[in-house]
Amino acid sequence: MSDVFHQALAQTLPMLEEIRDGIKPPPRASGKALRKLLKEVSSHGASAPQLVEGSADAESSAVWTWDALEQVIKGCEKCPHLVRSRTQVVFGVGNREADLMFVGEAPGADEDEQGEPFIGRAGQLLTKIIEAMEFSREDIFIANVLKCRPDMPEGESGNRKPRPAEMATCLPWLREQIKLVQPKAIVALGATAAEGLLGETRPMRELRGRWLAFGEVPVMVTYHPAYLLRNQAITEKRKVWEDMLLVLKKLNLPISAKQERYFTQPTK
Ligand code: URA
Repeated sequence: MSDVFHQALAQTLPMLEEIRDGIKPPPRASGKALRKLLKEVSSHGASAPQLVEGSADAESSAVWTWDALEQVIKGCEKCPHLVRSRTQVVFGVGNREADLMFVGEAPGADEDEQGEPFIGRAGQLLTKIIEAMEFSREDIFIANVLKCRPDMPEGESGNRKPRPAEMATCLPWLREQIKLVQPKAIVALGATAAEGLLGETRPMRELRGRWLAFGEVPVMVTYHPAYLLRNQAITEKRKVWEDMLLVLKKLNLPISAKQERYFTQPTK
């Protein structure tokens, strides 16, 4: 089934149910885009939902429910090569009303196998960072720019970076997740996540430690935990931690004296 069809169903049915139940007024959405989607629905043999005609400007105001979005993302077939290689789509995990989101680049082998982002070695380090911030993983929403594991050439193990085209194809899903979560801040983990989310190609030293934005949402770019596994220098850990202190400040959360001192050189 085409993903346009999935999208049409997922976009229109929850909206119609809300109108039927009196939760929402009839949409300002009967324009070109909606008609095109409905045509797709009809051409796939499903009975097209009846739409309430109104003014036509709602192309960008599709309202997703979490269930519909999850169903559509998990069935996404936009990248046929990744559909062939993936075990499953890694949707994202955690608090769907979180104040804070962490965004990585793409699932690795462990995440592809288990269906949850950041559960391998880098993920375990991310969990420690989250706990040092006095959160638990369940307090945060964690997702990736690319929801499928990047495929590897036959016989090769390891990971490859997601391609810009793959990230651009997948970004609308992350955008919808961000719209639903409505976080007060996002942490983008690593240069690839920064590129996928923000289109930023500047080096990490120019990106981290300052606030950027995804639409209205403040974004802090910091080093990927996999980088910290490769480079164990306390100075690099401190940089990530300083970025997390800025995040705690942005969220108006208290910072203890002990937290302020993490990863500073011991004074002699
Ligand atoms: N690295 C990422 O960027 N995302 C994951 O989910 C795991 C490792």
